[in-house]
Amino acid sequence: MLDLLTPAQQDPILSLSIAFREDPRTEKMDLGIGVYKDSQGITPIMQAVKAAQQQLAETQTTKSYVGLAGSEVFNQSMVDLLLKGTDGYSRCAAVQTPGASGALRMLADLMYLAKPITTVWITNPSYVNHKPVMEAAGLTVKYYPYFDMTTKQVDGEAMLAALSKAGPDDVVLLHGCCHNPTGADIRHEHWEAINELAQKNGFTPFVDIAYQGFGSGIEEDAAGLRLLADSVEEMLIATSCSKSFGLYRERTGAAIVIGKNKEEAMNAKGRILQLARATYTMPPDHGAAIVQTILTDDALTTQWREELNTMRNRIVSLREGLSSALSARTGDNRYDFIKSHKGMFSVLGLSVEQVAKLRDEFGIYAVGDSRINIAGLTEARIDYLADALIAISE
Ligand SMILES: Cc1ncc(COP(=O)(O)O)c(C=O)c1O
Repeated sequence: MLDLLTPAQQDPILSLSIAFREDPRTEKMDLGIGVYKDSQGITPIMQAVKAAQQQLAETQTTKSYVGLAGSEVFNQSMVDLLLKGTDGYSRCAAVQTPGASGALRMLADLMYLAKPITTVWITNPSYVNHKPVMEAAGLTVKYYPYFDMTTKQVDGEAMLAALSKAGPDDVVLLHGCCHNPTGADIRHEHWEAINELAQKNGFTPFVDIAYQGFGSGIEEDAAGLRLLADSVEEMLIATSCSKSFGLYRERTGAAIVIGKNKEEAMNAKGRILQLARATYTMPPDHGAAIVQTILTDDALTTQWREELNTMRNRIVSLREGLSSALSARTGDNRYDFIKSHKGMFSVLGLSVEQVAKLRDEFGIYAVGDSRINIAGLTEARIDYLADALIAISE
């Protein structure tokens, strides 16, 4: 049987990491893999996470199973963080999942179970896993226009024109904040327009929020999602603790469904649990236990918020530094988009050849579509990157 298998395609981002590791040049720079790094180039464990781990080590008495939905205290904490104060708060249900990846898959399976003819509309371009996960569940995937390669901003007009055609058999997948890969986020008026379209034409919004706190602030980053949760009848949410809590390897996230009423949401939750049972059965506990320890303790919550704010401020300052280093060199504002982008990533709009040149001639590793991870940069290396970008653009 196994001999029937053709080899899998290599994951482009993971193979980039391997190539980076094997590159002997000391000036090399990893702007590929999407993890936060501090000024020492380290992906740190947050102090609030360390404190919570300590508490858990001292107080946890068992490693017995938790349950199909994971920890209900964690689930409630995620709902509070995202939806408190919205109309959807009283008519939602949440399930702990192995990362937002697990949530995306469970919600995709749920959509297929409810309505196999569903088409999921995703941004062009989108997070590399959106299409394969939705398709693996049997759903049809289509792209809607999103990023304008010339302005490096969202093409709002084209996006809304496409979404105005979506109807009751469609699900529109939106990035809650810090769009991956482009860094270009939709504006408040876009969220308002999408909200109106969803109500008028009956499509279901599905918000994937994997970087809360990395864009403009913990509350600000959930504003678009909350706007929808206030008015639409149905909505799906995938949320991640990988970045916001730095818990990448602990695989911590949640799937949240908002229904017309609580009963509908609880019914959907029951079906997700059944789907989870047939997939991984139960989510891993440790990351969720850490998050719930933090979010149910005022002092730890304050500490976590401060640490996350520091991480965001570092990214914002790197964005400002890089964009001014580039305008000093070009004498114009063509790189100002780097300042207006949100979160860790920016798509620079370079060709495949230019991305290869960055790697071959300067040891700078960016993803093939010219996505760079701003958090992979340090203050001291801004000039090096700026010089390289000018050199490959000539
Ligand atoms: C937009 C988006 N959604 C979901 C995920 C998956 O995150 P997790 O590590 O929680 O599975 C990522 C991770 O890069 C992402 O960028």
